Amino acid sequence: MMTIGWFVTGTDTEIGKTTFSTLLLDSLKENGFKVVGFKPVASGAKWINGELINDDVNQLREHSTNHYTTNQINPYCFEPAIAPHIAAKEAQVNIDFELIKRSFDSLIGNVDKVVIEGAGGILVPLHDHLLTIDLCEFLALPVIIVVGMRLGCINHALLTEKCILNRGIQVSGWVANCVDPNMSRYSENLKTLTQLMTTPLLAEIPYQNTNKKTITWLNKEVLIK
Ligand SMILES: Nc1ncnc2c1ncn2[C@@H]1O[C@H](COP(=O)(O)OP(=O)(O)OP(=O)(O)O)[C@@H](O)[C@H]1O
Ligand SMILES: [Mg+2]
Repeated sequence: MMTIGWFVTGTDTEIGKTTFSTLLLDSLKENGFKVVGFKPVASGAKWINGELINDDVNQLREHSTNHYTTNQINPYCFEPAIAPHIAAKEAQVNIDFELIKRSFDSLIGNVDKVVIEGAGGILVPLHDHLLTIDLCEFLALPVIIVVGMRLGCINHALLTEKCILNRGIQVSGWVANCVDPNMSRYSENLKTLTQLMTTPLLAEIPYQNTNKKTITWLNKEVLIK
């Protein structure tokens, strides 16, 4: 199915959502698409030239086809690196899904594909009663789950996939990101995940202690449709 983009989530925080999102943006560009990365809500940022900048937002910007302002690709940004709903409350900001949707809508006029990176995992709260999965549903995009390959990831991956599918949200597939170079039984874990996940393994990212990483696509459908 043709889609205007994906919502990238993951099994946890710090497991490779930004890493995968930038690799997806690059692969899409190589396939001729105009792309932009979008981070609706970020926490953990620094003041640079009078602007609050989150590092994920900078990375997504660098891998987008054109230059986008911070406002365009990151409607909500909070300075402390804490749970976003707590950061929002402390800043007396109300995270408004309609505003996020308007930002998203103004991006899609200029590009073929938008890669949205969520904060943390799929049930991270954004507001008193609203979770990341609610934003996902609101934006109505298929989800890609980045699995940070380490001990415990099978449980987290299955929980994440079940939770999203149970809500009736489409999952395009998942990505195995090798974040732990010393993970025991990596290939056995990958095999188990492949058997137990109901959506396809899209790609594998090996452990790479370098700035510029590479990705091995196993299912290129997301890149060509
Ligand atoms: N395949 C890999 N090999 C080596 N290091 C990796 C790999 N994937 C991610 N990392 C490193 O792990 C750290 C976390 O990655 P990344 O920022 O992509 O995670 P994230 O899920 O986007 O985190 P956050 O929840 O903060 O948004 C980074 O320092 C990144 O360089
Ligand atoms: Mg990130």
